[in-house]
Amino acid sequence: MCGIVGAVAQRNVSDILLEGLKRLEYRGYDSAGMALIDDPDTGIATIKTVGKVANLVAAAKKQGASGNLGIAHTRWATHGNISRANAHPHDSSGRVALVHNGIIENHETLRQELIAAGYKFATGTDTEVIAHLIHQALENGEGALLPAVTAAIARLRGAYGLGVIDRRQPDRIVVARSGMSLVIGAGIGENFVASDPLALGQVTDRFIYLEEGDLAQLTSDSIEIWNDGRRVDREIATLSGKAAEMDKGEYQHFMQKEIFEQPQAIRDTLSGRVSEEKVLEEAFGVSAGKIFDKVKQVQIVACGTSFHAGLVAKYWLESIARMPCQVDIASDYRYRDIIVQPGTLFVAVSQSGETADTLAALRYANAHNRKHVATLAICNVATSSLVRESDFCVLTMAGQEIGVASTKAFTTQLTLLLILAIVLGRRNGLASEDEARLVRDMNGLPDLVDKTLQLDKEIRKLSKQFSDKHHSLFLGRGIQYPVAKEGALKLKEISYIHAEAYPAGELKHGPLALVDSNMPVIVVAPNNDLLDKLRSNLSEVSARGGKLYVFADEGIGLESDRSCKVINLPGCPEVLDPILFTVPLQLLSYHAAIIKGTDIDHPRNLAKSVTVE
Ligand code: M6R
Repeated sequence: MCGIVGAVAQRNVSDILLEGLKRLEYRGYDSAGMALIDDPDTGIATIKTVGKVANLVAAAKKQGASGNLGIAHTRWATHGNISRANAHPHDSSGRVALVHNGIIENHETLRQELIAAGYKFATGTDTEVIAHLIHQALENGEGALLPAVTAAIARLRGAYGLGVIDRRQPDRIVVARSGMSLVIGAGIGENFVASDPLALGQVTDRFIYLEEGDLAQLTSDSIEIWNDGRRVDREIATLSGKAAEMDKGEYQHFMQKEIFEQPQAIRDTLSGRVSEEKVLEEAFGVSAGKIFDKVKQVQIVACGTSFHAGLVAKYWLESIARMPCQVDIASDYRYRDIIVQPGTLFVAVSQSGETADTLAALRYANAHNRKHVATLAICNVATSSLVRESDFCVLTMAGQEIGVASTKAFTTQLTLLLILAIVLGRRNGLASEDEARLVRDMNGLPDLVDKTLQLDKEIRKLSKQFSDKHHSLFLGRGIQYPVAKEGALKLKEISYIHAEAYPAGELKHGPLALVDSNMPVIVVAPNNDLLDKLRSNLSEVSARGGKLYVFADEGIGLESDRSCKVINLPGCPEVLDPILFTVPLQLLSYHAAIIKGTDIDHPRNLAKSVTVE
């Protein structure tokens, strides 16, 4: 998704901007650009390229780009095709240049108005209207950049994170935030702005997170922030170097590294949240206990992989907490006539905490007469909008996840959702000895994941049989159905092999028609009450010449034969099955993608953080 970097200093900032863009590459983008002011008389120098940031770096080098003031951007197309012209920064009359994250909903009306006023449009983007509006305000007598930006944004409907420069005021960047994240990096004799602090890790560790509606002016030695026309002070947070770390280490891809980091990520997520035999519910915050006392049911909203975590949690909340749970896709939630039952806890699950749909669902819940008992964020990014806007939060301690395909975020989300089920279960008849057993099981989870990761070589061999396939079917029963869905999502997003997941019992209601020797059928087969039923589903596939790949609990004694390849997982307590069985599916997708030669950490058309609706 789009990324912003800006800098004002007493030195050439071009390398700082380019390094910042490289650090934002993980968000996904299709083109990049940079605008610098060196000598105001020669104007704003703008360089844009389609494709990787490396192309922009080469173009900047060729042109000898330099300037003490600049803004830069990685674009992920929403309005207007992928082209050099549509890449940011956008300018108006060579005077104003700006970068923008977000979507301007009333851009068409504004465009018509600006055309009537004599402005010519050079791009198909929604963003260009903002540049012209600011230019118009400057020329109509606002004079200074800050009031001109204030006047322009008053006309906008939609979401924006903005960085704006004016050729005639080459000592300042004006930035504005509404619905999109922006962070100011404070330096000594220089200041910066970015959509993510990670982009500025090379120049500062001191950050100011802008809040909704903030407008700020940065010069090399000052940072001034306004909200709703009033000067405001915002706290400076210090982020350790570790938070900005982006190193693949011994691994070939971030996704691979993140898969193998799962034992530690789960350990870190459990730490401080459970003792040997008890959940420490204080970890949810001081007022959490009182909130949990009022909860009668749970509403989960999320997107993508996080949604799958919610679907798994529904089973745990029903069986452990004996509570009804509804799980909604965040992008649909606010468009329904939701009935909020008394005593509903609203839980938003998100790795990034910046997913536009999940945030919008949270805001909808917050605005909906606050009928929920409270809103809880389960999130991996402490400083995210989701965390800041929820009543309380609990953080997954997965560490930064860079690969677009979510892996360790998912298993740590599951870890926390299981803890949540126990905390709510306590109030609903879960006996302390049952809690103790569950917590002991959870404490054994990191080692079990570690053991499961040792299947890597075997799975790599198996993946060779997938490289020439175009379609695949994933099957799971009960709580394993969301795991099958997650496996299918992983395979399709990074290997581009079409993958569909079905509850195994649904096979004969349609999808069985697809089964033949070219359709691999991947099955997750834990040792539970549904095993015999699942065995019948396997026979249905074999009988039709289908090729089965079964990830099975070693305790069930399933053996490979001509039509069925079995990979045995270490036996584990049933409650942990969804977490353990996810791991081999992640490895399968990863190795299938390696063979197919796709861009694993940046799959085509996808972004790490989907910050538009
Ligand atoms: O940051 P979030 O967890 O809110 O992101 C939600 C989805 O965009 C994300 O899980 C997406 O589906 C991943 N690419 C899946 O691997």
